[in-house]
Amino acid sequence: MSDIVLIVVGVAGIAWLAFLFVSSIRAGEEEVAPNLSPFLSNEELETVRMDRTLGVSIVLVGFLAVSIPLYFLTETNRQARFEDTFLEESILRGEEHFEDPAGCAQCHGGGGVGGAAATFEPRSGVATTWSAPALNDIFYRYDREEVKFWIVYGRAGSPMPAWGLEGGGAFNDQEVEDILNYMLEIQLPQNEVIANAESAVGSAANLLAGADAAMETTLEEQQDEIDVANSAPGLKDDATRIGAAATNLIAGRPEEYEGEPSQAPAGVDTDRDGLTDEAENRLPALIDEALSLGFGDFDGALAAIDLDPRNPMTNGIDQDFDIATAQVGHLSNAVLLIRVTADNLDKTLEPLEEGLAWLEAAQTNKLWEVDTGSLTVDDPERAVNLFNANCARCHTSGWSSGTMFANPIGSGGFGPSLQPPRARLQFTTPDDLRNFLYSGSESGVGYGVSGIGRGYMPGFGASLTAEDIDLIVDYLWGESLGGPDVPPADPTEEGSG
Ligand code: HEC
Ligand code: HEC
Repeated sequence: MSDIVLIVVGVAGIAWLAFLFVSSIRAGEEEVAPNLSPFLSNEELETVRMDRTLGVSIVLVGFLAVSIPLYFLTETNRQARFEDTFLEESILRGEEHFEDPAGCAQCHGGGGVGGAAATFEPRSGVATTWSAPALNDIFYRYDREEVKFWIVYGRAGSPMPAWGLEGGGAFNDQEVEDILNYMLEIQLPQNEVIANAESAVGSAANLLAGADAAMETTLEEQQDEIDVANSAPGLKDDATRIGAAATNLIAGRPEEYEGEPSQAPAGVDTDRDGLTDEAENRLPALIDEALSLGFGDFDGALAAIDLDPRNPMTNGIDQDFDIATAQVGHLSNAVLLIRVTADNLDKTLEPLEEGLAWLEAAQTNKLWEVDTGSLTVDDPERAVNLFNANCARCHTSGWSSGTMFANPIGSGGFGPSLQPPRARLQFTTPDDLRNFLYSGSESGVGYGVSGIGRGYMPGFGASLTAEDIDLIVDYLWGESLGGPDVPPADPTEEGSG
């Protein structure tokens, strides 16, 4: 459309130039001052002159009559195109923030497929991972404002940090909007969301079935850590000796050894690689000794090396100099940790042993176990797995931090306890509860008998089937969730779980 406008303007421009040209030629003919030359007669003014002027105005009016509507027709398109480009640029900027290795993808996975964040289980101090939910289906659970809230403020008590300026993060409002625009782009089609929900039910079943074994492994790891800490005092003298010997062997060597005799380190260096023959002969044995003593428990990257004083690239790929300096770095790190641990043994052991005791109690109580036989719903296993796949991360404290869920199913976490008769007290009929599960809570809007929504509870109407939601309603409406009969831990203790 704008092409037509351009053509019209072009033609008008050419006509104007032609007019100027013709009148300039005419102007050259006579040189009489305008006030002295006789003007046109009345007849001429009222006929030829007036007709011509009127003709020109009709043409001009016609031009405006066509071009103004044309302009307005193209204007709306132009604005729409402008908005499109604006949105595309915003999505690209959002993608950069999201997929940045230090951005959302680091925990939520590339493309928001879901991932995990490294964290510590707060009650035991045990290193664990906290699952970070998929975000490529987030708009099926929350509306844009609710998602924005989580991004800006993060989720207290979980590894989800605050990203918006208001929450103490670094992104301004436009940057958060960019991320939201990108997240809208990566949403899966609904059939895939429902298929994923099905596989999550399977994973929840496996997690529950493997909980005992996983807890056993965690206990062993915790015991190993204690053993390692206890070994530090006995290693201290060797650490000091080996550490000093290794650093002396490579000390004072130029970082970039060019092979020039003037830069050559003191001592014979047959292959001129920046490491003396003495260093190449002695370092591998020193590192072997450190490894056999258990230094590898303090720096897991410490590894045996092979150096040949007549070959600058003994393993054929890397410079001996680089390999040796990297491993001496790991050795020094292990030495430092051994000495710090040995000097602060009590302080180091205390939290580790508390964690062990906590894990042992959890292993004895097995609070994660569910007695599906006691449930009266149609398909009790599925009900429990549905709950664990979709609800437990907020309604069972500890669920997301691996298998260390030391609380009974549904006993509360980030969201309130759902243990019966809670649902029957909060909702007057199963239908009320069903409606609430379909749409979730809304910020500032009351729900049930006394609920005050904050918009934190997602809606499941778009991601779970009607049958599954019915099953969950029956499960929550029943006499028990099947968990052990123990008073729940204080759910306000740790935010999310
Ligand atoms: C350090 C890890 C980490 C990073 C980085 C991170 N998140 Fe999260 N995020 C989490 C975890 C863990 C949760 C789940 C918290 C819970 O269990 O309640 C979460 C939850 C969320 C939720 C709520 C999801 C739901 O269904 O409850 C949204 C939305 C979200 N993150 C968006 C983002 C965005 C956008 C970014 C990047 C700007 C980001 N996150 C970066 C760890 C992270
Ligand atoms: C992202 C965390 C989260 C998830 C996931 C979640 N909820 Fe909630 N839920 C909450 C929060 C928080 C509340 C309290 C309302 C609010 O703060 O907006 C709540 C409230 C509720 C209530 C009302 C409780 C009462 O007595 O006031 C019920 C029932 C409920 N959730 C059931 C479920 C079920 C069933 C699922 C899984 C299908 C689920 N929730 C998944 C966070 C969550």
